Order: sequence, then structure tokens, then C-alpha cells
Amino acid sequence: MKTRAAVLYHTDSQAPFAESRPLKIEELTLDPPGPGEVLIRMRAAGLCHSDLSVITGARPRPVPMALGHEASAVVVETGEGVHDLRPGDPVALVFVPSCGHCLPCMEGRPALCEPGAEANGKGTLLSGARRLHHGKAAINHHLGVSAFAEHAVVSRRSCVKIEADIDPVEAALFGCAVLTGVGAVINTARVQAGTTVAVLGLGGVGLSALLGAIAAGAREIIAVDLHDSKLETASALGATATMNARDPDAIEKVKALTRGGVDYAFEMAGSVQAMEAAYRMTRRGGTTVTAGLPHPDHKWPLQQVSLVAEERTVKGSYIGSCVPGRDIPRYIGLYLGGKLPVNKLMGQRMPLAEINRGFDRLDSGESLRDLIVF
Ligand SMILES: NC(=O)c1ccc[n+]([C@@H]2O[C@H](COP(=O)([O-])OP(=O)(O)OC[C@H]3O[C@@H](n4cnc5c(N)ncnc54)[C@H](O)[C@@H]3O)[C@@H](O)[C@H]2O)c1
Ligand SMILES: [Zn+2]
Ligand SMILES: [Zn+2]
Repeated sequence: MKTRAAVLYHTDSQAPFAESRPLKIEELTLDPPGPGEVLIRMRAAGLCHSDLSVITGARPRPVPMALGHEASAVVVETGEGVHDLRPGDPVALVFVPSCGHCLPCMEGRPALCEPGAEANGKGTLLSGARRLHHGKAAINHHLGVSAFAEHAVVSRRSCVKIEADIDPVEAALFGCAVLTGVGAVINTARVQAGTTVAVLGLGGVGLSALLGAIAAGAREIIAVDLHDSKLETASALGATATMNARDPDAIEKVKALTRGGVDYAFEMAGSVQAMEAAYRMTRRGGTTVTAGLPHPDHKWPLQQVSLVAEERTVKGSYIGSCVPGRDIPRYIGLYLGGKLPVNKLMGQRMPLAEINRGFDRLDSGESLRDLIVF
């Protein structure tokens, strides 16, 4: 069949993207689903900074690639051997397919699935196949999803079936921003009720972490960003204090507010400066978690002696250390129960044709989670 998708051919594009137009909307050929795969019709796809990092080359991926990884969809057709999904089922997409058999999968850490990571690095589905073509040329899949497209073929292991009563546009956020941000708080850091938290970087991921910290019962939550508009959003969501990262005294002010620093600081900006600030805002004995994905050449200089003499913990968090089939239903349940108001993270809704303009908005650092709606 044919589908329209946003395809990236070069990874060195400069803003403004509305002019450089790194994403071309093209009609591609989509093969039928193979064994263990499903054909889906996209409902909505969020614009995440990880997509932007592929466009700018900060996150190197093979091109040509059909971009997009945070989405909700409806099952259209199931491939051989898929018996637990039916046409019409609503699903959220997860950006690491998990094989279920490798060591991380057996340890209950499917976010680290080895065949899943290998397929994502190569731009294939979990099966190793590429189901998208432009003429005779194969097009790479982005993180097994390629969500900026009307239809996609994905591994069954990239899908989590979701409740029919959640709005399909809101559901898209659960596959990346919410799974990553809330999971960093609940799974990676295991934030305890009554503790203090700082969140640095208030995009879809950081604002989700903020909501996660509120749900976890943190006593004080300090939100930090470069943009005052983001600080206002964070206050409205329930941050107890805000700090502009450009303030030269930001670290000292956070320490003063929390008598020596927060129990947990979350770097959700993808920048070494934010990581350094997060570490220094963390109290002695505290935990600094990072979910940011800066350029692989960017290194954070850690003062080793402080790690030891102050018994600090530094943790990386990929997709919120999730078990997707366990966590997405949990977070959707919290949302439907009014305890995780993810709908307040939604920015603009736009058609696929406006996607380059959408990345200009994300690049400005001022947008909330914008979505392509199909
Ligand atoms: N670990 C994972 O599984 C995972 C999943 C999704 C996204 N990510 C990464 O998480 C990061 C955030 O993603 P997003 O989509 O929310 O991004 P976003 O662009 O929507 O938000 C980033 C925010 O960080 C702010 N910021 C930039 N520099 C800062 C600084 N020095 N101090 C404080 N704030 C600063 C920006 O103003 C912006 O508000 C990116 O690096 C992205 O690639 C990781
Ligand atoms: Zn993402
Ligand atoms: Zn695995």
C-alpha cells in the first residue's frame, strides 16, 4: 500500500526549518506486516527533542529515515503469529521494541533490550526488516515506529494496547514524554513521599517528571528552565518554586530553599550545563538522574571525590526504566483518575504538512508538546 510520511535525507539541517525543510512529505510504499508485525493507522504523533536531535545530527541515525517515535495508533491488520491484537484496537507506541529473551529483557529491563537497541541503531524493525520504500530505495525506520506517517508497519513488541476511553491524541504522549519523565521519577529514582525534587528542563519530558513527582508525593518541587514561560507552566502544574537557569545564583538559591540541596535532581534538558547544575543542586547523599540525550561528543566532567565523600548517586534513565506493558496502563490510569494531568502538557495540533514549522517551535524551547494529528 501507499502511505505519506515525513522523511529525513540529511542530518545537518539548520533552523529555521520552515525554510531549510529537512523533512520531506513523500508518498512511500509500505509492505504488508511480516510475522510478529502489525499494520497501524496513526492517530497522533508528538514532536520530541529526540526527533529534533536526529534532524540536527546531535543523535546520529542512518538516513534516509522516516522520523517520529511518540504516537498513538489503531491496529489495521495483524501479521502471522500476532494473536493478542485485533483490527480496531487502540495502541500506544514504544520506541524500543523488546524481544523478551535477551538478558536485560529477562532481568525485567526491556528498555535496554539488546536486539531492540541494535534494530534501532540500524533503522530496521525488530525483525531486521525495512518495510518502507521510496521507489527501489529502502527507507529506515525511526526507533521501530516512524510515527510521522499516516500508516506504519511495526513490531508487535513496539505496541501497548491501551484503553479505548482515553483521547487518542492525548494517548500519544504516553509512549515517550510520559513514559520517560514519570518513569524517571517512579522507576529510576524511586522518589519517596515527603522528599524534595528539582527538575531541570521543562519540555514534554521534564514537565512529565514534574507531574510524576507530584503524584509520588514530593514535598517541594523546584522547576528550572531557561524560559520564563516554561516556569509559569510549571507553577500552574504545581511546582512549589521556579528558577531561571540563567540566574547566576540559581544553584545557591535552590540550596538555600532546601537546606543544602534537593534529595533528587532530574536533568531533562539534554545539556551538560543542566547536568552540572542538577548535580550541584542535589544534596549530599542525594540522587541525580539524567534522561537528557546530548551529542555523543559532549562530556560531563564529574568531580569524583564529591561522588565518594558525599555518597552521591548518579543514574541514567532510558524510557523511564520502563516495563511498557506495565507502566503505560498505570500512567493512563493515573491520568484518567485525575492524578496525572498530562493533557496540560499539550501544545499545538498541526497537520503533517506543517511538521518543519513544528520543529522550529520545539527548537525555540518555548513550545509545550506539539502534535501531528492525522
Ligand atoms: N531518556 C529517554 O528515554 C528520553 C526520551 C525522550 C527524550 N529524551 C531527551 O530528553 C531531553 C528533553 O526532551 P524534550 O522533548 O522534553 O525536550 P524539549 O526541547 O521539549 O525541552 C527541553 C527544555 O530544556 C530547557 N533547557 C535547555 N537548556 C537548559 C538548561 N541549561 N537548564 C535548564 N533548562 C534548559 C529548554 O528551554 C526546554 O524547555 C532531550 O535531550 C531528549 O532527547 C530522552
Ligand atoms: Zn521522545
Ligand atoms: Zn530483549
